[in-house]
Amino acid sequence: MRYEIAASLLAADFSQLGKEAQTVIDSGADTLHFDVMDNHFVPNLTMGPMFCAALRKYGITADISVHLMVEPVDRLIDDFAKAGASSIIFHPEASKNIEENLDQIHKHDCLSGIAINPDTDPSIIEKFLEKIDIVLVMSVYPGFGGQKFISSALDKIKHIKNDILSKTQRPIQLSVDGGIHLQNISEVARAGADSFVSGSGIFLHPPYKDVIGKMREKITLKD
Ligand code: DX5
Ligand code: ZN
Repeated sequence: MRYEIAASLLAADFSQLGKEAQTVIDSGADTLHFDVMDNHFVPNLTMGPMFCAALRKYGITADISVHLMVEPVDRLIDDFAKAGASSIIFHPEASKNIEENLDQIHKHDCLSGIAINPDTDPSIIEKFLEKIDIVLVMSVYPGFGGQKFISSALDKIKHIKNDILSKTQRPIQLSVDGGIHLQNISEVARAGADSFVSGSGIFLHPPYKDVIGKMREKITLKD
């Protein structure tokens, strides 16, 4: 599996979201990470499906990974799939029926993901290994960009990779979200992550091409 750098749009300039999304992809990011917050599941409010549809209309063809920090998730799964999401990730605490929601995502031909908060026991995913394409390990408490990486996430990543994901033959992407920047990305890679979500680590450090290039070097060399 190739390492993936996912640029989190939460840290982009929202007044020019389309341009920012295109620039960061042209600068070497593999995918876009799209944070959806509802002022209920998390204490912040961000973008709904119209923003995702607008990015597609603007001409963004890169994968858009929608990270739902909302409760309930049911209707928004359908809405984001129709708005052009490539993958949809939700928090198990926000779902009344995890299996049904994973099936619902697949019915739309999107990839499905489960997000694991710092206080969530990762064994919750064990029952769903045949239906999950992405595990998103939160290395901050969801709600805001620009927070400090919680270092206990490193052991959690190792545990998920070695003790949980090893129980299936299916390729499940291990993605890490929150507080990742040039200075700590090698550690996250060494712990076993395949995908690195970074918002402020990229958007607050232009030119994006340089910072993304350096991040890729670090995750490939892991030193
Ligand atoms: C946090 C979001 C993250 C956030 C990451 O609630 O889910 O995706 O955008 O931003 P940085 O990289 O700034 O921590
Ligand atoms: Zn996120």
